[in-house]
Amino acid sequence: MTNLDELIQYAKAFSGLTPELEACLKEIAPAITPHLKSVTDSFYDDLGAIPNAANYLDGRIDKLKATHLNWLTGLFTMAVDTEFAQSMYQVGETHFKISLPVEFMVGSMALLNNEFTLVVFKVFGDDPAECSKILRAISAVSALSLMLMLMKMEQCYRESTIAEELEKFLSISGMSRTLFTNLANAYN
Ligand code: HEM
Repeated sequence: MTNLDELIQYAKAFSGLTPELEACLKEIAPAITPHLKSVTDSFYDDLGAIPNAANYLDGRIDKLKATHLNWLTGLFTMAVDTEFAQSMYQVGETHFKISLPVEFMVGSMALLNNEFTLVVFKVFGDDPAECSKILRAISAVSALSLMLMLMKMEQCYRESTIAEELEKFLSISGMSRTLFTNLANAYN
């Protein structure tokens, strides 16, 4: 999908982020943002206990926690618009560049949603209807973010596989890149 406006509408429809739930995220921002540091700390404790995940974190936990907290805060304070879509695409590409397996992103969202459930019940527990709405809003915006990151990661991994296969083909066949490009253009 090339058009960012279409992309964000598609992601909103698929994640169930309605205007009502988007407004809910903004309304609860003042009450929830003071708890996001503890959500971040628990998230990194969970990640650190997962074999392989720790390898990606060594020596940069403090910087990553700050980056992560900033992203989490944005979920409640930023408009979920084309700029948001662009930024999640960028984050997806960053994780592709460090060769992060895609299941790390899916697992991360599950861990974060678990933490959020605890926080939401702690802060809004005396109002079940409000809790249910807030949890739906958080689940929708986290699914939307995940969808955008994974779409970009999938595109990057696919392109890198095609590029590797082309390299292999050129080296096996002895064909020059220029000749290949000319042939490919002739078939377009
Ligand atoms: C919910 C899932 C995640 C979100 C939303 C997220 C968010 C972010 C953001 C916003 C950045 C900065 C992006 C940039 O500078 O372009 C970042 C960088 C990074 N993330 Fe994540 N992250 C997630 C999961 C993970 C996981 C599971 C790991 C590793 C176990 C990880 C490791 C890293 C590393 C190493 C960087 C720094 C990359 C670099 O600067 O070269 N992230 N992340």
